Amino acid sequence: MSRRASFVCSECGATHAKWSGRCDACGAWNSITEDAGLSASGPEKRSLGASRGRKVELSDLSVEDAELPRHTSGLGELDRVLGGGIVPASAILVGGDPGIGKSTLLLQAAAAFARSGQTAIYVSGEEAAAQIRMRAARLGLKDAPLKLAAETNLRDILTTLEAERPQLAIIDSIQTMWADNVESAPGAVSQVRAAAHELTTFAKRRGVAVILVGHVTKEGQIAGPRVVEHMVDTVLYFEGERGHQFRILRAVKNRFGPADEIGVFEMTGQGLSEVANPSALFLSERGAPVSGSAVFAGIGGTRPLLAEIQALVAPSAPGSARRNVVGWDGGRLSMLLAVLESRYGIGFADRDVYLNVAGGLRVNEPAADLAVAAALISARQDIPLPRETVYFGEVSLSGELRPPAQSGARLKEAEKLGFSAASVPRGVKATASNSLAIDMVADLGAFIEKGFGAIDR
Ligand code: TYD
Ligand code: MG
Repeated sequence: MSRRASFVCSECGATHAKWSGRCDACGAWNSITEDAGLSASGPEKRSLGASRGRKVELSDLSVEDAELPRHTSGLGELDRVLGGGIVPASAILVGGDPGIGKSTLLLQAAAAFARSGQTAIYVSGEEAAAQIRMRAARLGLKDAPLKLAAETNLRDILTTLEAERPQLAIIDSIQTMWADNVESAPGAVSQVRAAAHELTTFAKRRGVAVILVGHVTKEGQIAGPRVVEHMVDTVLYFEGERGHQFRILRAVKNRFGPADEIGVFEMTGQGLSEVANPSALFLSERGAPVSGSAVFAGIGGTRPLLAEIQALVAPSAPGSARRNVVGWDGGRLSMLLAVLESRYGIGFADRDVYLNVAGGLRVNEPAADLAVAAALISARQDIPLPRETVYFGEVSLSGELRPPAQSGARLKEAEKLGFSAASVPRGVKATASNSLAIDMVADLGAFIEKGFGAIDR
């Protein structure tokens, strides 16, 4: 057999005949690695039309399917992120930085699952069984009827799962698994891909739900080829800022539920505890009113989530203004700064701008534009914003404000948490029951005029 595609891109999974520094397919740099396994068992090149297949059965769209059965994991926040529980025979990938708490989360989930009378096996390729038992003791899970294995040999693991047929199997992590039919070392792209393929097909074939843990690289992607994300039904990311106790479990892909749903946890001395009312927690860090702070009424997945946006504007050395963003999109910040500068003459060219979402939260809604703009102007002018006001609204390049989706839910959450006013785009539908003073503005110019009056530009 010819040794053809023996290099593979870890970003997009494209195969190449020879190594190069940049992948032609996706443009990524330094992502191409040797792929021993692929060449040894390369795809069959013969045309599929050459021999006849079986005729597959066709069905109508109108056929009624039963509601997907689901196992509840026992962790409410995990179940909500999955769209209402674990779907049998599904494959789920949980990615996150090393040390963020993936093993803790899944040990807790597997133990809760087992305690509710369902069968679960936790396979660790990273820790010895004694270590896992120690962690379980610390988490108060000693009595859970969960089965453990410390193993990395994929063939042995599959044989065990085949014999035991649990309802849930956890593989921690996919990077430590070793398939003996693939020539490269554990963690190599071809190993990760082969292991993920074997485990997802096992899930489908045997009706076992499989959760794979995946470490994330410095660039924030699950180490190994992107194709792993395509293979599984659901991809969850476990995120959090170092030094903060909050952890967010975010669905980025879900064949069985809404993507972009989030679950919120707090890391404590006894493991992860679920946070049922995240808005209150993210706001509780706020102190006395200071300039540069604005509360954004956002939506995290399907639920409203209030977050504090903090901005600091400081004089910079000539020609070297810094832009530093944590928890929001840097490109979006540049756009807002450009709109403020060119439409309203509020310049930031000779100033450093730092923008931060409090509590280690990541906001990726354009609806945060107005809150960010308010925080930026407040910081620049050193004028605190009214403490009891929330902000939301998308800012267009012309400075016009647009109402985002789910305005009602945002306002309701703000009201529930004791806010008395909301600054929002014109056109937001406010329900009569709202006791919030709702201030609607058509564009950023009107907002600036009302909130800040005359500004030295
Ligand atoms: P871990 O679940 O091992 O992370 P991952 O599997 O993502 O690499 O989490 C390790 C971190 O969590 C470690 O820094 C200690 C901390 N931790 C707690 O704060 N409380 C606990 O009860 C546990 C078990 C861990
Ligand atoms: Mg771990």
